[in-house]
Amino acid sequence: MKEIIPAPPPIMRNDMAAVQALFRDNVIPSYGRFDLVLSHGSGNYIFDVTGKRFLDMGGGIAVSCLGHAHPAITEVLVEQSRKLIHVSNFYYHEPQGRLAQALVGLLGRGKCFFCNSGGEANEGLFKLARKFGHDEGRFEILTTINSFHGRTLAGIAATGQEKIKRGFEPLVPGFRHVPYNDLEAIQAAISPAAVAILVEGVQGEGGVTPAAPEYLLGLRRLCNEKRLLLFMDGVQDGHFRTGRFQSFQRILEASAGNGPSRSPALASGFLPDGISMAKSLGGGFPMGAFWLAAPYADLLSAGTHGSTFGGSPLACAVAFKVLEVIRRENLADNARNIGAFLKEGLDRLAQAYPSVISNVRGLGLMLGIQLSQALPSLPGDAVKTQAFRFANLLHAAGLLAIPAGTHVLRFLPALTLREAEATEALGILESVVSKLG
Ligand SMILES: Cc1ncc(COP(=O)(O)O)c(C=O)c1O
Repeated sequence: MKEIIPAPPPIMRNDMAAVQALFRDNVIPSYGRFDLVLSHGSGNYIFDVTGKRFLDMGGGIAVSCLGHAHPAITEVLVEQSRKLIHVSNFYYHEPQGRLAQALVGLLGRGKCFFCNSGGEANEGLFKLARKFGHDEGRFEILTTINSFHGRTLAGIAATGQEKIKRGFEPLVPGFRHVPYNDLEAIQAAISPAAVAILVEGVQGEGGVTPAAPEYLLGLRRLCNEKRLLLFMDGVQDGHFRTGRFQSFQRILEASAGNGPSRSPALASGFLPDGISMAKSLGGGFPMGAFWLAAPYADLLSAGTHGSTFGGSPLACAVAFKVLEVIRRENLADNARNIGAFLKEGLDRLAQAYPSVISNVRGLGLMLGIQLSQALPSLPGDAVKTQAFRFANLLHAAGLLAIPAGTHVLRFLPALTLREAEATEALGILESVVSKLG
């Protein structure tokens, strides 16, 4: 039989340059990539093609919540793929129904829609808002400065960062940005056309900034008063990363005297009207979803929204298994406890080396260090940000972390991170920071 794709010439196992050349010649260069060619991972470690080992504190940007090559994910992928990988959403299947039931159980009365990414999940929330406000001519969605909501056309219009939008104008109309954690500003920005507010519980790409509890409670009050929908983008900070399923549950437990209970209901009664999810939902298998509170759950009626791959049996079986492992292995508590341990260590480093780290922020296993503005220009490509160049120094020392903006490094490791690994991460970080400060 004639070959459709001719066999490529073999690449030597450790030939980084050959792999990078394949990218240079064939892959659209829309990412600023690090000079790393990764090969495989195990638990919280990842290896490059030369065999160098890295402690993965980036978790694929908050995706690989069970670490790498978790046997439960491998098993469910194999098992479900033997039964049914995909069916059209013209039909019912048990994995989607079971997963929706589990997510509703974690959030509250409502329903879920499944898609494939965070951007697509937010897109669904935008459509719901348009549908909700349509007959009254209301369409405007308020979002916050420094937010990030995805790379679709509506996603970049929603995102409160100019650099994300530049070059793609005209932007999708109907989005307005206001300062984060500022109730007065958002109140002042509500026009007669306003229909919804969308915020992250912890701004991720914007530099790991948690919402204040009073801010979230105030947004809920405001939305009730003005008949606006309150949406939370839980794509990065969700899925137990902060120690609770959604970050708002964690943020509000301190203020409302709720304690770390397992109940989704908060004493404050706080619940958004819609929540977008993705990233950790599939533990690395591409998957997105949004949940809508009961009063809005049937607004997207048959024929109004869809996604060919959304909620496939394979994706749903994996996501369900991820939830099962998180529950069985108490990974929410682990994220809370190891996150607190890591944060204490980062705070100590910030105190010891204030000329390098000016601030530590975050909750659970979503932590960020702010590099001091006084830090002299770091070695490396001068067109790259300080954060990118700092990440390169960490890579050389054997640790992966994720830049956010120009001066923040994020730690978004697997929820399985152990204390010994957190200690190792702090040691590597100190070895880099101590040479700079
Ligand atoms: C808060 C938030 N929303 C949306 C997205 C977009 O998700 P995706 O890249 O899966 O489309 C991201 C991605 O980083 C995110 O952090």
